[in-house]
Amino acid sequence: MKAVVYKGPYSVAVEDVPDPKIEAPTDAIIKVTTTNICGSDLHMYEGRTAVEEGKILGHENMGIVEEVGQAVTWFRPGDRVSVPFNVACGTCRNCTHGWTSFCLRTNPAEGVDGAAYGYAQMGPYDGGQAEYLQVPFADFNLLRLPEGDEHEQDFTTLSDIFPTGYHGADMAGVRPGDTVAVFGAGPVGLLAAHSARLRGAAEVFSVDREPDRLALAEQFDAVPVNIADGDPAEQIMAATRGRGADCGIEAVGYQAHDRDGNEHPEMVLDWLVASVRSTGGIGVVGVYVPQDPGAATEPAKEGRIGFNFGKLFQKGQHLGTGQCPVKRYSEQLRDLIIEGRATPSKIISHELPLTEAPGAYEKFDTRADGYTKVILHPAA
Ligand SMILES: NC(=O)c1ccc[n+]([C@@H]2O[C@H](COP(=O)([O-])OP(=O)(O)OC[C@H]3O[C@@H](n4cnc5c(N)ncnc54)[C@H](O)[C@@H]3O)[C@@H](O)[C@H]2O)c1
Ligand SMILES: [Zn+2]
Ligand SMILES: [Zn+2]
Repeated sequence: MKAVVYKGPYSVAVEDVPDPKIEAPTDAIIKVTTTNICGSDLHMYEGRTAVEEGKILGHENMGIVEEVGQAVTWFRPGDRVSVPFNVACGTCRNCTHGWTSFCLRTNPAEGVDGAAYGYAQMGPYDGGQAEYLQVPFADFNLLRLPEGDEHEQDFTTLSDIFPTGYHGADMAGVRPGDTVAVFGAGPVGLLAAHSARLRGAAEVFSVDREPDRLALAEQFDAVPVNIADGDPAEQIMAATRGRGADCGIEAVGYQAHDRDGNEHPEMVLDWLVASVRSTGGIGVVGVYVPQDPGAATEPAKEGRIGFNFGKLFQKGQHLGTGQCPVKRYSEQLRDLIIEGRATPSKIISHELPLTEAPGAYEKFDTRADGYTKVILHPAA
C-alpha cells in the first residue's frame, strides 16, 4: 500500500510499504477514507522529536472496516468508523476511569503512559496517512459512524482536534455564561472556541498572529485578538474591563512564537495566567515535551519551562494538562454534528489526494496559502 513516511527533518515521502495485517484477534484493519495532517505532526516534521526515519505518520484517521480479528464482535467489514488517536486497551486502571490517553498497557516505552498511531514515543503503531490502518483493541477503540459519506469533513475532526478542543474547554471548566480566552487559532484552538460556545460561553476571545486564522475564529463567534496589536493579555483585560476571562485554553504548545517569530515556550502560559481571573481554570492542550533538543534555552531542552507559577498560585488558578482522552467526548460530538449543532469542518482549508502529502506538509508548516487544516484521501 501507499503511505506517508518520515524521512528526516522537513522531509516526508509517499512510499510503498507492506499492507497491515490482523496480528491479534482483537485487531481490525481499516480502509482509510480520510486522514488529516495535524499541528502535532509538525513537531516531528521539523525534527523536534525522536521519531525514527521510516515511521508511517498519521493519527487522525477514519474509514471503513476492511477486516476484523476473531475476537472483534461489535464491528463488521463495511462499517464506517472514526479511529480515536489514542491506542487504548480498555481494561487497565486509566482506561476504565476514562483516561484512554494514559493507557497503562499500550505504550512499551518506560515511564510513558498512553499511545497513539504514527507518533514519536507513542508506541510502535503505524500511522494512518496510508491506504490501510491496523487498529488494536478494535471493539473498544473504534467509534461507529452513520453509513454513507455524509459529514465526512466534520467526522474527520472526531479522531483528535474536535475532542481535543473540547477537552481544553472541559479542563478549563467552561460553563454557560463564561468569558473564555483561547490562545492559538490553529485547528485545535478554533475547535476549542467552538466547544466553548457549545458549552454555553457568553464571550470567546481567540488569540493568534495569523490574520487568516483570526478571520476563521470570527466564523466561530470568537473575538479575534492579534498579538501584533500588542500584549494579548492586556487586550483581554481591557476588553473585560479589568476582570479577566473566566477560563483560558492553551492551544499553541511549546513552539509559541512572539510577533517577530522568536520562540518562547513560556509565553502563552504567562499570558494565560495574566488574562484569566483569580480562581479561574486553564486547560492546556497545546503540547509540551520533557525533552526538546531543539529548544531555544538550556532548561527548555529538559522540559523546564519557566512561566509565572507564583502568579498562578497567588490567583488561585487551576491548570489541566495532557493528551485528550478522545473516547470521552467523541460520541457526543458526533451526535452534535449529526443534529447540525456542531460544524467543525469550517476549519478545513485543503482536501488533497494522499500523494500530495509532501507539498501539503511544507505549506502547512510555513502556514502558506491559507493552509489551516489539510485532509488527505488515500483513494483519490
Ligand atoms: N493535547 C492533545 O491531545 C493534542 C491533540 C492535538 C494537538 N495538540 C497540540 O495542540 C497544539 C495546536 O495544534 P494545531 O493543530 O492547532 O496546531 P497549529 O500549529 O496549526 O496551531 C498553532 C497556532 O498557534 C499560533 N501561535 C503561535 N505562537 C503563538 C502565540 N505566541 N500566541 C498565540 N498564538 C500563537 C500559530 O500561529 C498557530 O495558528 C499543538 O501543540 C498540538 O501539538 C494537542
Ligand atoms: Zn492531531
Ligand atoms: Zn488501557
